[in-house]
Amino acid sequence: MNNFASPLTIKNKFLVFGGGFSGSYFAKSVRKLGCIALTSSRSKNNDPNSFIFDSENSLIPADSIFTGVTHILSCIPPDKSGKDPVLKSLKNKIKNLSLQWVGYLSTTGVYGNTYGNWVSEQNKPNPLQERSQKRLNCEKEWINSNLPVQIFRLPGIYGPGRSTLEAIKTKKIKVIHKDQQVFSRVHVADIANAIIYLIQNKNKLDFHQIINIADDEPCSQIEVIKYGYQLLGLNMPKKILFEDARKDLSPIAQSFWLENRRVSNKLLCQKLGYKLLYKNYQLGLENCLIKIT
Ligand SMILES: NC(=O)c1ccc[n+]([C@@H]2O[C@H](COP(=O)([O-])OP(=O)(O)OC[C@H]3O[C@@H](n4cnc5c(N)ncnc54)[C@H](OP(=O)(O)O)[C@@H]3O)[C@@H](O)[C@H]2O)c1
Repeated sequence: MNNFASPLTIKNKFLVFGGGFSGSYFAKSVRKLGCIALTSSRSKNNDPNSFIFDSENSLIPADSIFTGVTHILSCIPPDKSGKDPVLKSLKNKIKNLSLQWVGYLSTTGVYGNTYGNWVSEQNKPNPLQERSQKRLNCEKEWINSNLPVQIFRLPGIYGPGRSTLEAIKTKKIKVIHKDQQVFSRVHVADIANAIIYLIQNKNKLDFHQIINIADDEPCSQIEVIKYGYQLLGLNMPKKILFEDARKDLSPIAQSFWLENRRVSNKLLCQKLGYKLLYKNYQLGLENCLIKIT
């Protein structure tokens, strides 16, 4: 792990696998520092900053895409069989590059249910859901790849264009209450900014292979929804008890309510010294409001 990233310069070229919400935000952020950042897409498009990659349909990037690559970030979830899509299709290719750094976006779902207690990187993962077991397998695949990889465990991601505010506006929101239930969350800008901070300061900081990126204040869903309605100047509908709402929820939505944990960011924010841009949902949603109004 001693070749771990040098600070970013305009000479750096990032490949971001999975140009979705977090991947495209991250790519934009490193471009602002002068780096090249290309994002993958499953469908062809004319974006010069995009390349094609679809592991399920064997659509593999052209060799020229890999020329000069120094950093890779994968934002793609496990495939149906539970394998990591990038490693499954491109491991040999990637291993032959002179990479300074590789990042993998994982989830805090690997910790399973902690019954509302705090959980940190030091706790042994205990995935409850099948998708989280697959995720843990992908983390292991990345660690065993011997690439200079760093894994970021993320709770619920939100940001401008994808937040409670949009859910309220499109009436997709359900105001559900479950006693003692909390969720952790992170603003997409903090994912990008924290990762950039770690790369930029790698020479000064201890190396940690697994890092949670979460805000300071896990809290109930209803608290966030209430604040969203307040920001939009709308009245919040009456809350529904989880037990009553359950039957109308999709299996995946139900599964989120089966896990109750507070994700600690002490490693990132205390030990490694990262300062959150949005330390709680209030600040984060206020930022999201700029986009919606
Ligand atoms: N959303 C959350 O709250 C949350 C919380 C914790 C962790 N995570 C994880 O963190 C990562 C980033 O999250 P996100 O919400 O920013 O993701 P996202 O917007 O859903 O983007 C995921 C990207 O992966 C691509 N992709 C999926 N399967 C693929 C395959 N087999 N081959 C090639 N590309 C594929 C998608 O392509 P298309 O655009 O074509 O679909 C999309 O660009 C993901 O791994 C996600 O599971 C998400």
